[in-house]
Amino acid sequence: MKKPLIQKSEPNLDLAFKRSKTPTKIDYDSIIISDRLKSYANHKKAFIRTYGCQANVVDSENMQGILQEIGYELTEDYNEASLIILNTCAVRENAEDKVFGEVGSMKRLKDKNPSLIIALSGCMMQEPSIVKKIERVYPQVDLVFGTHNIASLPTLLDEVIFSKCRIVEVYSKEGEIKENLPIVRSSKIKAFVNIQYGCDKFCTYCIVPYTRGKQRSRLKEDIIKECQDLVNQGYKEITLLGQNVNSYGKDLYDDYTFASLLEDVAKTNIPRLRFTTSHPWDFSDEMFKVISSYKNICHYIHLPLQSGSNDILRRMGRRYTLEDYKKLVVRLRELMNDVAISTDIIVGFPNETEEDFLKTLECVEFCKYDSAFTFIYSPREGTPAAKIEDHVSMEVKHDRFNRLVETVNKYSQEKYKQFEGKIVEVLVEGYSKKDESILTGYTTDMKLVNFKGDESSLGKIIKVKIDKAHLYYLSGEQVS
Ligand code: SAH
Ligand code: SF4
Ligand code: F3S
Repeated sequence: MKKPLIQKSEPNLDLAFKRSKTPTKIDYDSIIISDRLKSYANHKKAFIRTYGCQANVVDSENMQGILQEIGYELTEDYNEASLIILNTCAVRENAEDKVFGEVGSMKRLKDKNPSLIIALSGCMMQEPSIVKKIERVYPQVDLVFGTHNIASLPTLLDEVIFSKCRIVEVYSKEGEIKENLPIVRSSKIKAFVNIQYGCDKFCTYCIVPYTRGKQRSRLKEDIIKECQDLVNQGYKEITLLGQNVNSYGKDLYDDYTFASLLEDVAKTNIPRLRFTTSHPWDFSDEMFKVISSYKNICHYIHLPLQSGSNDILRRMGRRYTLEDYKKLVVRLRELMNDVAISTDIIVGFPNETEEDFLKTLECVEFCKYDSAFTFIYSPREGTPAAKIEDHVSMEVKHDRFNRLVETVNKYSQEKYKQFEGKIVEVLVEGYSKKDESILTGYTTDMKLVNFKGDESSLGKIIKVKIDKAHLYYLSGEQVS
């Protein structure tokens, strides 16, 4: 028998686009869990799969915390789960295709076990057309919720389980800040800490400002306390997270900036401090000063370029020019001769010309990135760029993409090669997936290192002598 569908609230892109001057509400209340849900969950197994960026990783960690508080046990094998949550990403179409494939294949699990609950959450659920499709085509999905109502998970689960219906509850609003959510972190060594939510930049190709709401900064006290707690628990690395960390605080304080926060967190003496993402638009002078004055701030900067053509940058709404961007890179290198720089690049923005593309290639040659995340432009319904009639064929886009990857790899390989024979510091995170006798971790400048070493080094920062550079990692042997 088909379960009835209750549409409590559905996503709406016009509402998601709105920005007001209303101050952000901060909620410190704890979550509410019914007794009947607790007795129902009682050591049942729950599985979460996370797609997309670190914002989703932290959301999943919070959901894990909530599920554990309800009484679920977390599992890494969805075959044994009574509850499956797919936490989705909407940034490109291929991310969405993966989710639909997964949901389709989960139908057989549901056929075997009709009491299995399948829930979908995250950015994709903020898109009206996606939710409509799920309602229509995927009856195996019991619960759909979005990025603004993770804290309601216990109430939603209670309803889905005890009223035996399918529920859709997605809010399209500017968003609040929910402090004190329970959390089960995926690592005991390194942690992500949100410093701001949402985004107000509205780059013309990007869906994130619609799926995540307005840019809202957490109070500095709440962030610093979370970081201090992590230090006290023995964490070795913190990454401060936001879509535009450089604009932290602008919605809250007159004279407390991202540079001030970075300095305060550095003073907690966390051994390694990182941050992402830095929008090139508002990289301030104070930031340069703080980054170069604290030894624990890693000399690794992710600085998304997107395109090397000023015309495309303007049409993307990025608000910097190629010249501004290059100046930033030169300054970073002048200040820290060992700095590693990575980037994001999109090829095939609507009507990108060969000339535009060559400017991107030239910029890659100029910046000699340590690594780059490269994407083919994917139209996102509701964004301004998706309305542009595009005259460039997919064949041309793929050809440009391949040439870009080739150029990126050439410089990346050169950077990695420079490490051969050198000794680097590595934070040891675990074992290599391919070979359990090999340890693995990252250098301060984000190079993956696989090495022969001592198991007792797990969770410590140790020295490794590099013997060989590969395309995406270094290999070597522990020396201390
Ligand atoms: N806030 C970050 C980026 C977050 S999204 C910033 O502005 O730098 C991560 C990356 O996905 C972006 O940098 C961009 O390169 C890519 N991306 C976003 N929307 C895309 C789209 N519609 N098609 C292809 N790539 C996209
Ligand atoms: Fe998207 Fe631009 Fe915001 Fe980054 S800054 S999340 S690319 S809109
Ligand atoms: Fe994807 Fe949402 Fe992050 S769209 S990239 S999971 S903010």
